[in-house]
Amino acid sequence: MLTRARYLEAMGIDVWRRRAAVPEHQTAAPTADGNAVPAVAGMIWEELQRSVAACTRCELHRGRTQTVFGVGDAHAEWLIIGEAPGAEEDRQGEPFVGRAGQLLTAMLFAVGLKREQVFIANILKCRPPNNRDPQPEEINCCAPFLERQIALVAPRIILAVGRIAGQNLLKTSTSIGKLRGQAFAYGERRIPLVVTYHPAYLLRSPREKRKVWQDLLFAKRLYRESMREVPA
Ligand code: URA
Repeated sequence: MLTRARYLEAMGIDVWRRRAAVPEHQTAAPTADGNAVPAVAGMIWEELQRSVAACTRCELHRGRTQTVFGVGDAHAEWLIIGEAPGAEEDRQGEPFVGRAGQLLTAMLFAVGLKREQVFIANILKCRPPNNRDPQPEEINCCAPFLERQIALVAPRIILAVGRIAGQNLLKTSTSIGKLRGQAFAYGERRIPLVVTYHPAYLLRSPREKRKVWQDLLFAKRLYRESMREVPA
């Protein structure tokens, strides 16, 4: 068979060969530079970390000091998802370390959760310039990383903090005011998901802290209920 192909090639006749099936996680996605990068479905944690650190899928890589992968227990039962790194997060390479982050840490502590006990990630792994809202294109480029993180952490509950996180995880344009107070189910594994206000908003509107407190208690109740369910 190979010999026949060689003859045909020597005669200048195009030879078409059936390609071996490429595993899903090895298929390529284009980057902002036009380079191909491996897709992330199927990656293990360390591969994912390396892939995020080297990412050039969108233009945000040009302005970053470093990527912000996420922090905490990679097998946490609680997964907290925010919007995108700010200036301090970009400097330190860790999510939620600025003023809003300190408030988030305090909020979690108030319901008995230490930072090291949960995993904290963002919709975007790179800082948008001047802390502007993430663009749909950037969110699309980054989504496979977050989806893989969610699959690998396999949390019992997801807390989406802020409009951007809530709307993008739930693929909706419903206002955050309406998303609050509801129990959603994320993905095929139907992970309970609760949306609450972003701590940066609470810094501007401290009166809303009471609502976030209610959301956290609600999330805690859903988490406890999930503990009672027998996994299929
Ligand atoms: N705001 C976010 O949404 N994420 C961070 O990591 C910091 C601030």
